[in-house]
Amino acid sequence: MTNYFFDQRFLHGGDYNPDQWLDYPEILKKDLAYMQKAHINTVTLGVFAWSALEPTEGVYQFDWLDEQFDAIHAMGGNVILATPSGGRPQWLSQKYPEVNRTNAYGQKHTHGFRHNHCYSSPIYREKVRQINTKLAERYGDHPALTMWHISNEYSGECFCEYCQENWRDWLKKKYKNLEALNHAWWMSFWGNRYSDWEQVLPPSPLGEHKVHGMDLDWKRFVTDQTIDFYLNEIVPIRERTPDIPVTTNFMAEGHATQDFIPLEGIDYGKFSQHVDVVSWDSYPDWNNRFEAIATTAMKSAYVHDQYWSLKKQPFLVMECTPSYVNWHQYNKSKRPGVHILSSMQQLAHGSDSTLYFQWRQSRGNSEKFHGAVVSHDDSTNNRVFKEVAEYGARLEKISEIKGTTRKKEVAILFDWESNWALKRGGGFGRPTRRYPQTLQDHYQVFWEQDIPVDILTPEQDFSDYRLVIAPMLYMMTEKTMLKLTSYVEKGGILISSYFTGMVNETDLLYIGGLPQPLKELFGIEALELETLLEDEHNQIDFQDQQFVTKDYSAIIDVLDAEVLSRYQTDFYQGTPAVTKKPFGAGSSYYLAARTNSDFLAAFYQKLIEKLGLRRTAIAEALPEVSIQTRIGGQREYAFIMNFSEKEQQLVLKQPVTDLEKNQQLAGEITLAPYEVRIVYHPSEVH
Ligand code: GLA
Ligand code: ZN
Repeated sequence: MTNYFFDQRFLHGGDYNPDQWLDYPEILKKDLAYMQKAHINTVTLGVFAWSALEPTEGVYQFDWLDEQFDAIHAMGGNVILATPSGGRPQWLSQKYPEVNRTNAYGQKHTHGFRHNHCYSSPIYREKVRQINTKLAERYGDHPALTMWHISNEYSGECFCEYCQENWRDWLKKKYKNLEALNHAWWMSFWGNRYSDWEQVLPPSPLGEHKVHGMDLDWKRFVTDQTIDFYLNEIVPIRERTPDIPVTTNFMAEGHATQDFIPLEGIDYGKFSQHVDVVSWDSYPDWNNRFEAIATTAMKSAYVHDQYWSLKKQPFLVMECTPSYVNWHQYNKSKRPGVHILSSMQQLAHGSDSTLYFQWRQSRGNSEKFHGAVVSHDDSTNNRVFKEVAEYGARLEKISEIKGTTRKKEVAILFDWESNWALKRGGGFGRPTRRYPQTLQDHYQVFWEQDIPVDILTPEQDFSDYRLVIAPMLYMMTEKTMLKLTSYVEKGGILISSYFTGMVNETDLLYIGGLPQPLKELFGIEALELETLLEDEHNQIDFQDQQFVTKDYSAIIDVLDAEVLSRYQTDFYQGTPAVTKKPFGAGSSYYLAARTNSDFLAAFYQKLIEKLGLRRTAIAEALPEVSIQTRIGGQREYAFIMNFSEKEQQLVLKQPVTDLEKNQQLAGEITLAPYEVRIVYHPSEVH
């Protein structure tokens, strides 16, 4: 069995849809020859192939997939086999309309082409299990089967009768009785107390006003229901192929805007506990107009790091484009060199694969202009094809890095649930919450200095990190407060900020200001949270410099903390803006104001120096050159990546070996625009 864990190669390949080309045998033949030319070793089959596998109910047609499995195996390749639930056959929607999703307005979807099934429908669950059982029975022992790819990009919600019933059951299980629910959601407000469970509906877009606690629980329910659907999918798979790893492709968010952050809609912190390997679909907007490519790279790095951190083990990039997507306003191609650079960045942050959507551009329909390895010209002389082939050849030279680990001393905490609650809350500045984006501002300081960072949920263990950055942790359980307290007590350094510790897990405000454990931990009391308009700013002083603030100013009182900075203007002039409290063997810092990155850089610089935070030992940091490291087999591998359009000179602090060229390097090296080099030196940590 060529199980992913035992294949020493980086996985290179991606979504392959021979089911679109069954009438074109000459194309299918070419595909295999082309794949070898492009150094492809892995294909994902079957993502949307249900109707090709079961064209009418109960009538199966596996010959074409058998042939593909054998052909891929014959070329020494791996198959990641997808379950087809992301796109169901027309006959299924026609015969069992309940499988189609119902939207928030109560309108029943029609067939809808993909990604719009109900997660509760018993018939859909049964049908999915049937086809998955067939696949597991037929291919479970095939030597090419490497991994299961369950469904595709789970997302969205359904409001049908089944889902409503499940929603009420979920609530009954959680709250036991209506009194508890009424209290948790504060339903006495506007006199809305429930007196019968049947009155409890899902959140509706028709009511202008929202019940915050309900919205929060609904999002939790949607995550749980999605996971439950997934768990139903994998029952036959676990039974018949217990040794084949299972994954599902996660997503990022903010496409076609300037944001690039992990998906907000599903709590991947929870979901990741049910997959063997984390995988995700990575589509940053490379070569855009609105930011330097280094900024795009920083955001992309952040999402990679978050998905690494879910399991702190290598993940997979399940999809990315070798060139362009089709769903931006303007779909620009990556500039020459950027494909290799951006793909190497995936590995640098812990991916063990570069897989594409898709192998061959489809001839018609919705995504015919989406980039692919093989374009409509059907030529291997195509620029994109050649870059993919060059990348594939380079991957073979660096395969010893596959499976290696990463070592980090800094953790940022991100909580999906707190993000939902904060976004929903009303009040303050609606466009300026920007919780994950603010975490990225903190992250940037470390990224620019090549200090690796994990992004953990508060549920994860952060006790071993030297520095924990947890700003804007709006919703905080007492358990998290105690965890943070004990972390600092034992010597940890904690950074938090305005918006932290305001509500409990059902979005009820803590009464009496900051909860007592946080008052003690930070040595402050939070008095007011002032919202600044778009063009309003305050100023704070810090180490004899002045810094501009924006968006939010917490007005605080010091109980027993040191004041490191004060506001310079407005009615709260002179009050503390940054504080520090030595606590146990560690210290906690509170940033009352939101600032720009210049302040964050100045603030963290001191801590970075004082703690001697681990960064690569090979060269001084340059802001547009990112160096990320992986460690394994007595070696530290460094990916040196030039995210700029200009040459960059780098002074090596110690001799290293270029892994691809097997060449010693010392002194100064020059990186061409977009160039990436992979070097290693003996590792100090193992
Ligand atoms: C997603 C889907 C793919 C395809 C790509 C296009 O990631 O999983 O099927 O639609 O987007 O970018
Ligand atoms: Zn439903």
